[in-house]
Amino acid sequence: MNKQFAIDVKEGLSKTPKSLSSKYFYDEKGSALFSEIMKLPEYYLTNAEFEIFQNKASEIIELLGLTSEKSFDLIELGAGDGYKTIELLKALDHCNFQYQYTPIDISAKALHQIEGNIQRQFPKKKISPKLGDYFHILHELKASPLPKVVLFLGSNIGNMENVEANSFLIHLSENLSKGDKIILGVDLKKSKDIVLPAYNDSQGVTSAFNLNLLSRINSELEANFNTDLFEHAPMYDEREGVAKSALKSIVNQEVEIKGLDMKVAFKKEEQIHTEISRKYDDSVIQKICLNTGLNLIGKVTDSQNYFADYIIGK
Ligand SMILES: C[S@@+](CC[C@H](N)C(=O)[O-])C[C@H]1O[C@@H](n2cnc3c(N)ncnc32)[C@H](O)[C@@H]1O
Repeated sequence: MNKQFAIDVKEGLSKTPKSLSSKYFYDEKGSALFSEIMKLPEYYLTNAEFEIFQNKASEIIELLGLTSEKSFDLIELGAGDGYKTIELLKALDHCNFQYQYTPIDISAKALHQIEGNIQRQFPKKKISPKLGDYFHILHELKASPLPKVVLFLGSNIGNMENVEANSFLIHLSENLSKGDKIILGVDLKKSKDIVLPAYNDSQGVTSAFNLNLLSRINSELEANFNTDLFEHAPMYDEREGVAKSALKSIVNQEVEIKGLDMKVAFKKEEQIHTEISRKYDDSVIQKICLNTGLNLIGKVTDSQNYFADYIIGK
């Protein structure tokens, strides 16, 4: 049994309102569902960031201030399947940059996917994937004496509240050296009619992805959640720029989690909060960078101004 998962589920379902961490979406089935989400027409985030890496990689490389004489570590936090990163690797290889690529992910399935994808595109490239929680792995970054470029793409940081994102960047900065860089991919604030469908697609894949969290608790913690009695509940606050997803109980019910020796009562309409996806503009980015020792160097956006990759330096 994954001990931390057990501890976090117990804590999250014991408090009011109930919540579960979005990092637990990514078991084998969840990672496969997320790859499907990335291909959905409504999920504009992937295409927008892919377009940036495909068309503006040279602009990004320039902002990073890299030179091909000096090798560096390219470290990706929550790498997923590496679909967009591969575009950056192609551009770096094209300019003969020397680097060691280290994707970090909590999901073994995601790391297998990325290894396979990189192998297919670059048969000779050696990468050094790391399995684990990036919150716990950050301190290992310091071990290498090489300059670092840290990728944190896909608006993963949007899964954190601003205070948490600020602490995360402080922690990241403490493990970087002067001159190291971060590429922070974030979804930009925009209207509800564009954002909400990205979290509520017409084929129901996002709903299946959210409900899979309950199936994961069933299989890993011997629970008896009936996923037909919960529904995916997305919302978007346009003024705040925050999308949230929850799982809503559609009846009064009690669920038993044998592995945690607990029973959890749900009232009809009661929600388990599962994910926040914050949207950004320059002022929010400035706010989360406050007191981190990190400075904004530049920003690259897609043609529709939906998404931005900020280049941040220590
Ligand atoms: C939304 S996906 C994004 C993947 C990729 N960065 C992209 O932009 O397409 C999030 C990825 O981060 C991983 N992840 C989430 N929380 C994590 C954590 N705390 N530590 C390591 N990986 C994590 C997940 O397994 C998943 O592969």
